Amino acid sequence: MKGFINMGIQDMISNRFGLETWEEIKSHAGCDEPFFAASLEYSDESTRALIGSVAKFASLSEKEIMIQFGSYLVSAVMAKTYAHYFVLAGNSVREVLTNINRIHQEVTRGVPGARPPNFTVETLADGRILLTYDSPRGLCAVVHGLVLGLGKYFNEQVQVKEIACTSNGDDDCVMEVSFL
Ligand code: HEM
Repeated sequence: MKGFINMGIQDMISNRFGLETWEEIKSHAGCDEPFFAASLEYSDESTRALIGSVAKFASLSEKEIMIQFGSYLVSAVMAKTYAHYFVLAGNSVREVLTNINRIHQEVTRGVPGARPPNFTVETLADGRILLTYDSPRGLCAVVHGLVLGLGKYFNEQVQVKEIACTSNGDDDCVMEVSFL
């Protein structure tokens, strides 16, 4: 996977806890990369290992870390590193989610080896959104956090409820997004 996610973890940890702690967390994860860049390719295992190592360091579950990280990622990384795409993506949580497959297709067009996640976005009669995440990478909790981060960014009150998850043996990872 492109370094987008690993770079975000690097950014969050070094900003919150300093570079020395980041080096320690990275070394516990078995990563010998000097740093992560958005455009370079890294193994999916390195992402899982980093999340595991941060969770251990913070004494939180991997799921909680992924939610916090996703939320952090929106304004700290996504809106800066990918400012151009972010502006095109929309002006509200609903618009960005509705455009999510198009954004990923655009941003990874012509990028060798890119395999972005795929989403099914269904709007229910009452306005709630059912978001189905389809990816072998198992990062649905990051998606959960990203939706919360989008809410903060656009100053909207959103709630995310997990409906199904492949880690519980369900066929898909499905989240319900409510707008309060
Ligand atoms: C301007 C907005 C966005 C940009 C520029 C962007 C860009 C990217 C890029 C470049 C990757 C790496 C793809 C690869 O290596 O194949 C990626 C992965 C990912 N993106 Fe986005 N993204 C955006 C919005 C979102 C949003 C709104 C969500 C969820 C609500 C999301 C969820 C994810 C996830 C979970 C991954 C990790 C890969 C996976 O799970 O398979 N992204 N994104």
